[in-house]
Amino acid sequence: MKKVLIIGSGGREHAIGWAFKNAGFEVSFFPGNAGTKFVGKNVLLDNFDRLVEFDIVIPGSEEFLVKGVADDRRNVFGPDSSGARLEGSKCFSKLFMQRHDIPTAKFSIAKNSVELEDALKTFQPPYVIKADGLAQGKGVIIAENFSEAMEKGTKLINGTLISGVSGPVVVDEFLKGWELSAIAIVNGKDFALLPFTKDYKRAFTGNAGPNTGGMGAYGPVRIDNNLKRRIEDVFGRTLDGLKKENINYRGFLYIGLMIVENEPYVLEYNVRLGDPETEVIVTMAPDKFVENVVKAFSNEKIKEYYPENYAVDVVLASKGYPDNPTKGQKIEFVSNNGFFFFAGVKENNGELIVNGGRVLHSIGIDKNLEKAREKAYENIKTVHFEGMFYREDIAK
Ligand code: AMP
Ligand code: GLY
Repeated sequence: MKKVLIIGSGGREHAIGWAFKNAGFEVSFFPGNAGTKFVGKNVLLDNFDRLVEFDIVIPGSEEFLVKGVADDRRNVFGPDSSGARLEGSKCFSKLFMQRHDIPTAKFSIAKNSVELEDALKTFQPPYVIKADGLAQGKGVIIAENFSEAMEKGTKLINGTLISGVSGPVVVDEFLKGWELSAIAIVNGKDFALLPFTKDYKRAFTGNAGPNTGGMGAYGPVRIDNNLKRRIEDVFGRTLDGLKKENINYRGFLYIGLMIVENEPYVLEYNVRLGDPETEVIVTMAPDKFVENVVKAFSNEKIKEYYPENYAVDVVLASKGYPDNPTKGQKIEFVSNNGFFFFAGVKENNGELIVNGGRVLHSIGIDKNLEKAREKAYENIKTVHFEGMFYREDIAK
């Protein structure tokens, strides 16, 4: 039996492991969480030399890829650190898009407050300012007026806005449209699109409240063929650009798009799967997902597939998320029949305890979208913890 190691501890990692387990693999997680234990083994690795013990290693988040976990390791499914710059550095990725004629918002790079002021003057409000490096989803500021943009942008540059994040910023033209997550599997040469999904980023029902890592998702999202071809063109240009720059890329490639008048613009590249997009992607068609990943891992030909089911993921979050989630509450399941992926959950003396902002992902699957949605919401009734909240409008 082939041994797979999933790196990470969120719902995304639980979902990937669940799909591989169902396909007959022996699954381990590093470090995993209280839910991944139902699917495989949680292991503690004190150093990455031990990655050789596994046939396939799949890093869930960008963190390890940017640090080079895939460099010179053939068994890691993901780009090496040169490819991971697409996500690890916003300046690199915007300049990459410019070099290869990939549609994106107009932009400037600013390294200090004088350059920031000059850059902002060339745009209209609202102003979009992005940290260059990884900032755990907090690195994008949207400011309504010039003085707010100057104040926050300057703080972002000098490291006083987000702890541990400083340096140059990208100032982007604000794009108005609708967002779509387009994710493909790349086999080192070609790509195959995964089903399109929609992520709900704001915390509360009706798109209110602060931005989060994602409060739910559904898929497949149906789009017209014209737009689909335009998106394929964006992936094609991206892979061509990588080849021209001698960057080998094998793994997942996630393009966050803003669709403006039916034209896709790249907001960001991610070098991994999304969370909660993955929970939806794997449950729509687990076997096909695994089959394509394994083929791409072996540099074999891959093909786009079409799931027969819709899937809906409603995130159950803990009060205070995203800024300051309450932790430590006991999680009680009133039945064993629920379908959840676990995220911020830990085990303490045999009890399940809230240990993060996004706690559980409630999943509904059906051939009909409305029914999949109903199932995801019905499923929520089988669990409770104090301070639990969720959006009422996922997939509506
Ligand atoms: P990013 O991490 O670059 O995807 O940005 C996070 C979020 O900020 C996106 O999902 C968008 O909602 C918003 N955003 C980023 N760039 C722009 C832009 N140029 N125009 C409008 N909204 C943006
Ligand atoms: N859900 C957005 C992300 O994974 O980046």
